[in-house]
Amino acid sequence: MQLRANAKLNLSLKVIGKRPDGYHEIDSIMQSISLYDSIKLDPLSKGIKIFCTNPLIPTDRSNTVYKAALAFFEKTAINQGVKIEIQKLVPHAAGLGGGSADAAAVLVGLNIMYKTMLSESDLRVLGESVGSDVPFCLIGGRGRVRGRGELVEPIEPLPKTWFVLVTPQILISTAWVYQNFKPVVSSTDNDLESVVLSQYPEIGELKKELLKLGCLKSQMSGSGSSVFGIVESEEKGIKILEAIRKKHPQSYLVENVGRGVENV
Ligand code: C5P
Repeated sequence: MQLRANAKLNLSLKVIGKRPDGYHEIDSIMQSISLYDSIKLDPLSKGIKIFCTNPLIPTDRSNTVYKAALAFFEKTAINQGVKIEIQKLVPHAAGLGGGSADAAAVLVGLNIMYKTMLSESDLRVLGESVGSDVPFCLIGGRGRVRGRGELVEPIEPLPKTWFVLVTPQILISTAWVYQNFKPVVSSTDNDLESVVLSQYPEIGELKKELLKLGCLKSQMSGSGSSVFGIVESEEKGIKILEAIRKKHPQSYLVENVGRGVENV
């Protein structure tokens, strides 16, 4: 079975405050995009075996897909296993929810493969235990996301929108960003920019560069390091992509999509 695990952008991200459990209460608009990891699942008689095209990604128990598969087998009491092959196209530690999307795809895929008929809310509860962005990735499209990420409310899809997405060669830990977050009067649509831009001024420079190249708006996604610019047309996006790719090889032209996981 082959699935697409679509990445997400945070079109906005407000941090409401710190919760007693150490997580932060957020209010964010998330959007699935046409950049994805491919996930191939094959049944195994036992065990969870992971293969990934990116050698930097651990294939042990710390991988989100391992946690997702384990949560699924525990919940359903199915005494079997799965081989998971990940073709990693979404940059990791980049604010694009790649690991969460992979976990969501594994939950959806196993539910189909083993005909377990877990409901959307069962999958969400399993997803939540794996990572804060998994509940959104299970639904996808455009959604308002609250709580620590578990409250997802689908909202009306945007018309077709093109984004130039740039991931600088900087790996950022989400935990580090939240640990260093201080409530500020924020002038941006993403409250986490205040933490990241003060440590990595080059991300602020990249935002400016995208505007200079003709993007209508530019913003960091999630806890960074990715920055996206909204463009008025695909043609304009292609031109900006050509220019920005010279300096940033991990640059993409993507559009909004209506699902988080696609069975292809
Ligand atoms: O849930 P996930 O493992 O993706 O989160 C990574 C880290 O980011 C958490 O350990 C937590 O420190 C921080 N976080 C947070 N509030 C959120 C989501 C994540 O503080 N809503």
